[in-house]
Amino acid sequence: MATEAAIPKFPFSRPSGAEPPIEFADLRASNSVSRVELWDGSHPWLVVKHEDVCKVLTDERLSKERTRPGFPEMSTGGKEAAKNRPTFVDMDAPAHMRQRSMVAPFFTPEHVENMKPQIQEMVDRFLSEMIKVGCAEPVDLVQKFALLVPSHIIYSMLGIPVEDLDYLVKCNAVRTNGSSTAAAAANANKELLDYLGRLVDKRIAKPEEDLISRLVVEQLNAGHIDRLDAVQLAFLLLVAGNATMVNMIALGVVTLLEHPSQIADLRRDPSLSKPFVEELCRFHTASALATRRVAKVDVVLRGQTIKSGEGIIASNQSANRDEEVFPDPDTFDLHRKRGSELALGFGYGDHRCIAERLARAELEIVFATLFQRLPNLRLGIPHSEIVYTPPRKDVGITKLPVVW
Ligand code: HEM
Repeated sequence: MATEAAIPKFPFSRPSGAEPPIEFADLRASNSVSRVELWDGSHPWLVVKHEDVCKVLTDERLSKERTRPGFPEMSTGGKEAAKNRPTFVDMDAPAHMRQRSMVAPFFTPEHVENMKPQIQEMVDRFLSEMIKVGCAEPVDLVQKFALLVPSHIIYSMLGIPVEDLDYLVKCNAVRTNGSSTAAAAANANKELLDYLGRLVDKRIAKPEEDLISRLVVEQLNAGHIDRLDAVQLAFLLLVAGNATMVNMIALGVVTLLEHPSQIADLRRDPSLSKPFVEELCRFHTASALATRRVAKVDVVLRGQTIKSGEGIIASNQSANRDEEVFPDPDTFDLHRKRGSELALGFGYGDHRCIAERLARAELEIVFATLFQRLPNLRLGIPHSEIVYTPPRKDVGITKLPVVW
């Protein structure tokens, strides 16, 4: 029987750069449903096989409600946030779908298809601005490009006036940037919430065509949600995927620079950006700690009883490297033969990322365009000096100086 001392601390640490923690491969082979220890001394279960992660993420006996005792929180900040009014991301059926469907029309295939020209225009514009300024000094691709694309898209969807974008992009960066102090991050969080509160009030007074106005007209005015719900929903959409998108763009660039023949393929045929993005979202799991649940009743998984009230972390990061599903999983190959296997970078089941199509569209347009516009794009620093996120946090890149 495992002793308390033998329970490993979680999140595991990445050995270097963007490589996933080595513990996952060991656990997949030997102990695929096991206990880990979190920062607060709690011992939730960690599930690492692709098949089991899918089971966990579709099991209605497991809950996403963070107010339930035993729900695995990853930090003090998380524990505090769990006390806020929940949005659908933290709800179970049927309330989850009821609220999710209020914003779902903005993420349908048709809606995303209609947004593609706007995404392309933004990508072109940010690249043109970079090119105009030039690269006599290396340019930080995170600040000058990766951060701008997803922020401007979601802000325009929410209906945030263009003149406020820079201020909000900065607030959001302070919130999520690992190097901000806790006080600065909390302050930026409050500034964003206050800003959105004022915006909701403006739309209550005079609705327009954007997502917040739709929420006001269709849901708030009809009594389905109140003002605080509208603010929290806008906040969720503003922050939920932003850092992840920025990280995926930067990781995609570095991964391509590490595989020059695949850049050449992509330049020859920009339509390969689709399988490239598919492989990118398998290879790097930039949202690896969201897929957490707590058991509402006793549940048995691989012979292991998970008791009611015990937490579970279903590792989509480990599942994406499961050798039983993805042969040679640690090789990055945009030409990888694909069958019915499904990468889990966007989650699985009812809580699967609502914005997956939008995120894919943005990434596909970015990578179909970037090396066409900047065929000589390369690092402006030695590879060993790339600044990655801290090794126990979601994988990402905080600074990426480039030249072209
Ligand atoms: C490459 C970019 C992205 C990745 C890898 C990603 C990943 C994920 C994952 C793994 C989940 C599932 C969480 C769970 O099962 O508990 C999720 C859910 C979610 N994502 Fe994303 N996401 C991305 C972009 C975005 C963007 C751009 C937005 C907002 C516009 C967004 C909004 C959400 C929301 C609201 C949920 C909750 C869905 C629900 O609970 O029903 N994501 N995402």
